Amino acid sequence: MQLLDGKLLSENIKAELATEVDLLRQKGGKVPHLVAVLVGENPASQVYVSSKIKSCEQIGFKSTLVQRPAETTEAELLAIVQDLNADPDVDGFIVQLPLPKHIDEEKITLAIDYRKDVDGFHPVNFGRMAQGMPAFLPATPYGIIEMLRRYNIETAGKHCVVLGRSNIVGTPISLLLSRKGYPGDCTVTLTHSRTKDLPAEVRRADIVVAAIGIPEFVKADWVKEGAVVIDVGINRIPDATKKSGSRLVGDVDFEGVAPKCSHITPVPGGVGLMTVTALLMNTLKACRKEIYD
Ligand code: GUN
Repeated sequence: MQLLDGKLLSENIKAELATEVDLLRQKGGKVPHLVAVLVGENPASQVYVSSKIKSCEQIGFKSTLVQRPAETTEAELLAIVQDLNADPDVDGFIVQLPLPKHIDEEKITLAIDYRKDVDGFHPVNFGRMAQGMPAFLPATPYGIIEMLRRYNIETAGKHCVVLGRSNIVGTPISLLLSRKGYPGDCTVTLTHSRTKDLPAEVRRADIVVAAIGIPEFVKADWVKEGAVVIDVGINRIPDATKKSGSRLVGDVDFEGVAPKCSHITPVPGGVGLMTVTALLMNTLKACRKEIYD
């Protein structure tokens, strides 16, 4: 069994990005600038956003955190989005989800200029991705694809079973793995809460992508010997042996499943770090206008 080391990979990619930033700077070009908008006090969102900002600093990107209280109105947030759309110094920006209940996430996503949508959530980017056109890919699926590529994991003709049909992970990774080329050319099964016999579906998988948000849900006897297991879950569970009283686990029962796998991502230290790194890769693409003029 080989661990798919998201920490090592993301450090390598960040070093490559830092070199690119140096080159841009030497040529007198613009340094990539990412803005993160955080509304409210969701503790997980605070951790994710600060990790995005910190990673920008590490590699020499400019970053700005726009933080607003939970009472911010939808109109106020739309005005912030419009300002960022219009600001030529901003290459890309994200509005961290989830948003407070009184704000319509769909309305906010649609208001973001798709040319600055480095989260890849806007339907223009999603539609372009679905048709195999250049697009900002959503960060988690992009991170997974990059991980498969850099570990040279064979995907052509493999049967991939995805657990969870969210707009930001399950649905887009299903599309990306089924497209023509590498990594891709998989036969994909997208499973969800209404799937009849989930263990039976997972047992057929050469590649499992678990993105359902239920701690240690995927069990050892569901997984085929030699499978590649990508665990997207980040779940906090109580653990009296830890000083904090809790620990992070994925959607996969790692202890049971790992011995059966050819490759598996750990939690933490797997897909999560690649998600942040993919956002940085998108921001560099935005700054260089690689996808849109
Ligand atoms: N919430 C959970 N994941 C993400 C993400 O990738 N981007 C944003 N903006 N919000 C999220």
